[in-house]
Amino acid sequence: MTSSHATPPTDLDAPLELDPGDWDSRQIYFLMTGLVIPRPIAWVSTRSPDGVRNLAPHSYFQAVSNDPPHIVFASTGVKDTLRNVRAAGEFVVNLVSADLVEEMNYTATDFPPEEDEFTWAGLTEAPAVRVDAPRVAEAHAHLECEVRHELAVGNGNLVVAEVVHVHVEPSLWRDGRIDPEAYDPVCRLAGTSYATLGEVFKLPRPGWKRDVEGTAPGEAIPRRA
Ligand SMILES: Cc1cc2nc3c(=O)[nH]c(=O)nc-3n(C[C@H](O)[C@H](O)[C@H](O)COP(=O)(O)O)c2cc1C
Repeated sequence: MTSSHATPPTDLDAPLELDPGDWDSRQIYFLMTGLVIPRPIAWVSTRSPDGVRNLAPHSYFQAVSNDPPHIVFASTGVKDTLRNVRAAGEFVVNLVSADLVEEMNYTATDFPPEEDEFTWAGLTEAPAVRVDAPRVAEAHAHLECEVRHELAVGNGNLVVAEVVHVHVEPSLWRDGRIDPEAYDPVCRLAGTSYATLGEVFKLPRPGWKRDVEGTAPGEAIPRRA
């Protein structure tokens, strides 16, 4: 064993050095989902081959390309969402603002496949433009997605999808782009912990020629105001 601790210690009095193979899957899950934060939440809506609406949050979620736009999300194992995504080849990512966090969390219940999470959570369906999956009308922005790839990664199944249509409510828009504070997104931390945006600040990105060349190491690092 190359690890400093055989199991997660209650208190850490020296740096943790870990070969992930030395801890069990659940212990690694809490470590990784505690370290890789904040994670945005894809609230994925699908329609089953029988026409049942499905809705479930996925925080293994990220944007990975912008031209054309692509996102990824991963299902740990095979759940209703992934089954529907495989069958239909399409889905909607409903973006989660703080006003919807309780409904979002409720839809993570292990409802049987024949149960409609829109109904259980008291949510309304809005039609999508390019896909047959339902949209959550109460969400303030949506990404309609078509599946391009699926990749098995460890115990996850990574879905790579192209965003073929985007919906954004006017309330989220300011000065030509998304206003993060008006958007008020919720992110997932480990376990049952969530967070909203804290302080929003700007940091200019330096250019080699314009800002850095000719300076001493560290001298031109842009500092927070
Ligand atoms: C905030 C949040 C994020 C989650 N992220 C994921 C995820 O990334 N992948 C996953 O497989 N399950 C994730 N889950 C658990 C699923 O939402 C849960 O298993 C759900 O019941 C799956 O529903 P389905 O069977 O209708 O697809 C998450 C749960 C919550 C509350």
